[in-house]
Amino acid sequence: MARTLKSYTVSIANTGATISCRADQTLLEAAILAGIDYPYTCASGNCAACVSQLDAGKIDLLAHGDAALSADQAKAGRILACRARPKSDVTITWLGRGRK
Ligand code: FES
Repeated sequence: MARTLKSYTVSIANTGATISCRADQTLLEAAILAGIDYPYTCASGNCAACVSQLDAGKIDLLAHGDAALSADQAKAGRILACRARPKSDVTITWLGRGRK
């Protein structure tokens, strides 16, 4: 029997939207699936277009390029939405410009 992965609530401060994100999805994947025009370009942790502030909650940050997010930025609560999986309900604010 397939195990159902836990889902968390993601609040996106820029739009006021609240979406659901599975524990095995990135915040960016969940946002796109929900129809939100979240800024991104590479979706692989290398361009920083999806850089966001983690306002509340916990995430797992997957491997990414140092140029996209430095250790100091990560300490300051910056995340890459394309590399972040939720570990709790989270609130985020995108800071990047993506394709716009
Ligand atoms: S979209 Fe490029 S780092 Fe996230």
